[in-house]
Amino acid sequence: MATSTITKWIILSINIMIIQTLTLTQAQQVPCFFLFGDSQFDNGNNNLLLTNAKANYRPYGIDFPGAVPTGRFTNGKNIADFLAQLLGFSDPIPPFASTRGSAVIRGLNYASGAAGILDISGIRLGDRISMNRQLANHRAAAGQIAALFRNRAAADSYLPFSRQLRSLYNLGSRKVAVFGIGLIGCIPQEISLYPITNGSPCVDPINIAVGLFNNRLVSLINDLNANLPNARFTYINSTSIALGDPSLIGVKVVNAPCCEVQRPGAGAPGQCLPNGSVCSNRDEYIFFDNFHPTQIAYNVTASRSYRALLPADASPVDIQRLVQQ
Ligand SMILES: *[C@@H]1O[C@H](CO)[C@@H](O)[C@H](O)[C@H]1NC(C)=O
Ligand SMILES: *[C@@H]1O[C@H](CO)[C@@H](O)[C@H](O)[C@H]1NC(C)=O
Ligand SMILES: *[C@@H]1O[C@H](CO)[C@@H](O)[C@H](O)[C@H]1NC(C)=O
Repeated sequence: MATSTITKWIILSINIMIIQTLTLTQAQQVPCFFLFGDSQFDNGNNNLLLTNAKANYRPYGIDFPGAVPTGRFTNGKNIADFLAQLLGFSDPIPPFASTRGSAVIRGLNYASGAAGILDISGIRLGDRISMNRQLANHRAAAGQIAALFRNRAAADSYLPFSRQLRSLYNLGSRKVAVFGIGLIGCIPQEISLYPITNGSPCVDPINIAVGLFNNRLVSLINDLNANLPNARFTYINSTSIALGDPSLIGVKVVNAPCCEVQRPGAGAPGQCLPNGSVCSNRDEYIFFDNFHPTQIAYNVTASRSYRALLPADASPVDIQRLVQQ
């Protein structure tokens, strides 16, 4: 039981973000920006899927411009939005699911809530766009801007993570930031499910498994940089970023969600209850629901991945240096 949960969450929490360098326009630091990942990056791709892993209902989006639910799994903006801002884009990168035509030229967001690097992960909640499907969507979009990409589609139905990253490289990506898994043992959902021992505020065995995975991810990234000509992959250490003192940004509640969440056995346990109650002091919470950070926490993750505060935040370089290389 514990093992399957750990495995599921390792897979669910891989976030990959791609920055692709083509020709620069003025304010934008990169001409286009492609995002792959799970619910921390999804901005509406799951809205039309048959799944419980969607966030296109209130109170999600309560602090988004217009106060509308968009499919983002938080109260306001998510990491993808903050990073697009930091990179100088005037608008968010649009979701693949609802974007066609020339708009794809500035990039697309392929991320999907409950998606993982394995096709099977997240199946309990319903349909989702796995990493392989996100890559297939990227191939299709790359076809639309074919002049900009080399077309070398891989036909494999299952690719392990290293081959998925190589596949991005083969599609033309040269600058790629990969977010490691965060401290999943500290999210309210896990704290509510598993016993806490040794006075730790978190479920330590889960965080230990996360650490083992992330160490291997760093080796993989070093290996890709060493072996793929002109490849610039970088690792974002979500653990290092999460270890900051939350009170410095005014956060007071670190172990409970802001919204009223669905109970065990409901369609999407731990996600916000549709039209349920929501805290008024949202900037004092790390978590909006039992899984997903509030926008104030996403803002910190995006800022520190862009401009590292500590050397451990990014290796070998932060995103700001990555785009300048
Ligand atoms: C991430 O940062 C933490 C805290 O500094 C450190 O203990 C850990 O080794 C780092 N992980 C990797 C994979 O570099
Ligand atoms: C939530 O409230 C809105 C507006 O009052 C209503 O249209 C919608 O049906 C409600 N949804 C649920 C699941 O109760
Ligand atoms: C995000 O953080 C920056 C400072 O790093 C701040 O200026 C900005 O207002 C924040 N945005 C939101 C929506 O919290």
